[in-house]
Amino acid sequence: MTMTRNPQLDQHGALKHLLSIEGLPRDVLVNILDTARPFVGVTEREVKKVPVLRGKSVFNLFFENSTRTRTTFEIAAKRLSADVINLNINASSASKGESLLDTISNLSAMDADMFVVRHSQSGAPFLIASHVREGISVINAGDGRHQHPTQALLDMYTIRHYKQSFTGLTVVIVGDVLHSRVARSQIHALSILGVPEIRVVGPKTLVPDSLGRMGVRVFNRMEEALTGVDVVSMLRLQNERMDGGLLPSAQEYYKSYGLTAERLALAKPDAIVLHPGPMNRGVEIESSVADGSQSVILPQVTFGIAVRMAVMSILGVG
Ligand code: CP
Repeated sequence: MTMTRNPQLDQHGALKHLLSIEGLPRDVLVNILDTARPFVGVTEREVKKVPVLRGKSVFNLFFENSTRTRTTFEIAAKRLSADVINLNINASSASKGESLLDTISNLSAMDADMFVVRHSQSGAPFLIASHVREGISVINAGDGRHQHPTQALLDMYTIRHYKQSFTGLTVVIVGDVLHSRVARSQIHALSILGVPEIRVVGPKTLVPDSLGRMGVRVFNRMEEALTGVDVVSMLRLQNERMDGGLLPSAQEYYKSYGLTAERLALAKPDAIVLHPGPMNRGVEIESSVADGSQSVILPQVTFGIAVRMAVMSILGVG
């Protein structure tokens, strides 16, 4: 029998790229979360730097817009003492027709050690990883509808921080699952880490029935899905990825699927609320919930720095 090797792992099972959560062993995920923990301490120190990636060059290639991911990758790389190069895609030779792989070959010739890639095309980071020479690592910072592995990892870090363990938890993912790379990565991560009940809820047009095959419970009524949960993970409506006709209006969506204080009261009293951002207040979530005592939306961003430091340090010294 021939086994397909995970392209993210070397022959010893060590991480060489981070492209997708799917197919990663549990110990790889736990190692990233454990490695992140001391880096949270580094980010709280007066001198927020360690020499782990001194002399290494990290190239941030964001072909799609980003606030949180791009900035926290840059901060993380700088805190690890790497040299960080943010390619301005709009001012790059991509605008003159240079292909993605020619851009990568030229940046590799500048002694790149790591590429952090966001792209609207699903699979672009995989293509780059198959093209770069041995020793260069590629991190997927979000590709199309496919995967956003470091977002899922920072979400897992946040859940573990507030809930201590994954066993015994009920987690609900709310909203536009169809277009969401975050939801896909979260479902894989929650399942690998042993969360016994993963729910998704949203309009039928935005929640594929096929999720049932992934061991996820699919709901269409928010009130049912929220009852008794420990974690509520909200998703953004990805209007830029919709062809139209999937929703009557933002107001109708909010009426049925917006996370209001009244609806949150159906969850456990100590339930936490996550959102990867950017948030549409009054569409996915009421402001009083987004800014309320159960919201861990800003801690997610802060933990994202330590989690990205962990991923880069594991890849960089591995
Ligand atoms: N969560 C997330 O990916 O946000 P950005 O698009 O701002 O990076």
